Amino acid sequence: MNDITKLDNRLSIEKSAPGRRALKFKGRIKHGAAPVPETLRRKTAPRLPELSEFDAVRHFTRLSKINFSVDSHFYPLGSCTMKYNPRVNEDIAALDGFAGLHPLASDETAQGTLECLYDLQNRLCELCGMDAITLQPAAGAHSEFTGLLVARAYFARKGQKDRVEIIVPDSAHGTNPATASMLGFSPVNINSGPDGRVDLEVLKRHLGAKTAVVMLTVPNTLGIFESNIETITKMAHEAGALVYMDGANFNALIGLVKPGELGVDIMHLNMHKTFSTPHGGGGPGAGAIAVKKYLDSYLPVPVIKKEGGRFLADFNRPLTVGRVKAFFGNTGVLLKAYAYMLMHSSRELGEIAENAIINANYAKALLKDCFPAHSKEHCMHECVLTPGPEMTKQGIKTLDIAKRLLDYGFHAPTVYFPLIVHEAIMIEPTETETRETIDEFASAMKKISAEAASDPQKVKDAPHTMPVKRLDEVQAARQPNLRW
Ligand SMILES: Cc1ncc(COP(=O)(O)O)c(C=O)c1O
Repeated sequence: MNDITKLDNRLSIEKSAPGRRALKFKGRIKHGAAPVPETLRRKTAPRLPELSEFDAVRHFTRLSKINFSVDSHFYPLGSCTMKYNPRVNEDIAALDGFAGLHPLASDETAQGTLECLYDLQNRLCELCGMDAITLQPAAGAHSEFTGLLVARAYFARKGQKDRVEIIVPDSAHGTNPATASMLGFSPVNINSGPDGRVDLEVLKRHLGAKTAVVMLTVPNTLGIFESNIETITKMAHEAGALVYMDGANFNALIGLVKPGELGVDIMHLNMHKTFSTPHGGGGPGAGAIAVKKYLDSYLPVPVIKKEGGRFLADFNRPLTVGRVKAFFGNTGVLLKAYAYMLMHSSRELGEIAENAIINANYAKALLKDCFPAHSKEHCMHECVLTPGPEMTKQGIKTLDIAKRLLDYGFHAPTVYFPLIVHEAIMIEPTETETRETIDEFASAMKKISAEAASDPQKVKDAPHTMPVKRLDEVQAARQPNLRW
């Protein structure tokens, strides 16, 4: 283990020495006068670190090494799918023809990009078993917002403005009830059954003339497939409601299940969770909502169409909910998704889901003695575990385990989510991890479990090898110390 706490942790400005520099120019460099008003010009030179080339390069190289990332560490962040993003996708999205396209280019000059997006739309519809799609939303929660806008417009047109309730199981992603409230719907929370699935009796009691939408996260936040989904969609339709599927976790279903065939009316995809762009780093994402035919006309404008062999952005849609994002959405992310799709046959897409499911169940099985799973059912792409009774007896919390994992060289899994599981540890290895990596991770988890028995304080005080130890997290969030 490389103990980085023992290395030089000073800021670059603290390493600065007057006159030290990397480059020396012969003669003076003449700067043109910047068009900044005199009153706004600074009077003194900025205080920048003065460093030799070695100092600067070593400083930033060291910083890059203490950073945890998918490129350097196993990143088992549940609910976020830290997928492999083949580097070639970056190159493709950065090709001049794509990256250099002016956002206001006419359809005529954007034929190549429009064709890619059009083809992507069709492929996604096919994978989801849906009829129409928009690629505009900027992320998953934005897709939910757009999807519920569509549902609202649909009921308004049918004269059913009294449908104001959205049923959301407690195993749904937290953005679901939040989105429903943002749109003025009333979220109705229903408890899951002991197997982690929607309790059909409870659902029946809540469905009625006021129900607009049943919003299901599939697989749900416990990593469990809603195997009664066909019954659920039937029940919802009989009550006159629509079914929205939060398909952000489509990585577990891709190529295996077509939600449209299960009765789903609207669903979203997180392009940044399923189609190669890793999620969780705060970078740009892209969402999409796919709908059945009867909802097509409400989709946001523009919709990309093909007419007479040419591609065009169609704004002429009288029932549309309007625009939800500038231009065509986050096109760079969509292009990466498109490249990823073209690289895989439909069989391979199915294998992606299968491998994600196998990896999560493998991790779950390896850890079952020390970290029992919340649900005894087979999981999909992620498993929700809890610290075993031996650890709990010693007062070890999930947070302690997450911090200690950093000492072992692993990014922490998602902790304390889903909220319905006490001391939850959510692990999503994704399909791209090897068996060896999952073995190493499980072995570190087991070591932590053993340490909890032999030296619990060591686990409670972790991390020991990071430059920053335990923070007061509330204070760090409310009063971040970002200035030197
Ligand atoms: C199941 C589920 N739904 C919705 C979202 C929200 O997506 P986003 O973070 O892109 O808004 C996520 C995010 O990870 C998710 O896992």
